[in-house]
Amino acid sequence: MAKDINKDKFPEETKLKLEIFAECFREWFPVFLHNQYIKKVYIYDFFAGSGKDVEGSLGSPLILLNEAKGENRKYCNQIRKNNKRVYFAFNEKIKIKQEQLQENVKNFILTCQTANCQTNCIYSYTNFAHSEFKDFLQNENFLNILRNKDYGKFILLDQYGFSQVDKDIFLQLVNAPKTDFIFFISSSFISRFREHPATKQYLDTAKINFDEKQPKECHRLIAQYYRDIIPTEKEYYLHHFTIKKGANYWGLIFGTNHSLGMEKFLKVCWSKDKLSGESNCNINNDYEQGMLFHNTEETIKKEEISKVIRSKILKSEISDNISGLKYALKNGCSSELFTAVVKQLEKENKIARVGELNYSSSNIHKIKQYNIKIL
Ligand SMILES: C[S@@+](CC[C@H](N)C(=O)[O-])C[C@H]1O[C@@H](n2cnc3c(N)ncnc32)[C@H](O)[C@@H]1O
Repeated sequence: MAKDINKDKFPEETKLKLEIFAECFREWFPVFLHNQYIKKVYIYDFFAGSGKDVEGSLGSPLILLNEAKGENRKYCNQIRKNNKRVYFAFNEKIKIKQEQLQENVKNFILTCQTANCQTNCIYSYTNFAHSEFKDFLQNENFLNILRNKDYGKFILLDQYGFSQVDKDIFLQLVNAPKTDFIFFISSSFISRFREHPATKQYLDTAKINFDEKQPKECHRLIAQYYRDIIPTEKEYYLHHFTIKKGANYWGLIFGTNHSLGMEKFLKVCWSKDKLSGESNCNINNDYEQGMLFHNTEETIKKEEISKVIRSKILKSEISDNISGLKYALKNGCSSELFTAVVKQLEKENKIARVGELNYSSSNIHKIKQYNIKIL
């Protein structure tokens, strides 16, 4: 049985995970809050724990509540003005932990209300459950919300181990409209027990080429396994973050069907890892800070993806800015990388741009398209 995460002090690696959850949600929330086509916003934490560690550090449910206020409670005021409904749903399977969570949330809200506004609070629609996560996927109420394209959904799945997000559940999340999700997974364990029927029951490990000599790679490979499940015709974005703890590798996987969702998640990842935007363990063996050739502008990942983009442009496999910008995102890099390659190729007189000329890189869904001509 997994050790209860809330009974100790959160270790550094758990704090990193929680920081990524917080920053990911901080980026996500205003986008959905301000989107006029979204009628309701749902925030689900299905493996919520009891809310705190032994020292009182906030766990994911309290982090989400805290983030939802925004700086100087700006979102509370906006929600009150726009009358937009924001629902929080916290699930924790173990009854006693769920009761502690309820108490912690109650105190958190009370403290906030006492210090600030008393009524019409952003936390008015906070619900609790203590079910098996998988039961929600049979629950018509939840499924109706999940399928509703007028509702924005943020889904946090901080499981122990790896058994809760199998292929079917993953596809259900991928196919849900206006739904972004982030899940935690114990990648080293999948690699170590890949032949075990208990593992194969959840992941088709025969499709993952684990390399004993490259243990660092295991979470990357698992993310690729999930990426390969996504139907090829579907525009979808998936990125991962490897977290090394001792000899083990864990990781996060974030999924969104909108380029903006991935732009925002990558911003968080690159702020945590300036070398590759995907790990706490220098996954590509770049020169680290303090080493002679350390240079965050020219890292192995950036150089590699720039080289591929350059080659694809010159072979006309990328022939417009939108597909180029999205290619960078899909490969875990900021879309600015594509624009830098385009500028360089223009300087070398190898390409010309035709159409709505611009060098915009962010908010891809709003950028005007231009085509690329080979000279
Ligand atoms: C990694 S902890 C979550 C910690 C929490 N996110 C935090 O920041 O404190 C996983 C939690 O999920 C609960 N859990 C385990 N299996 C579950 C299941 N099948 N459905 C719902 N909750 C489950 C555990 O009791 C545990 O509290």
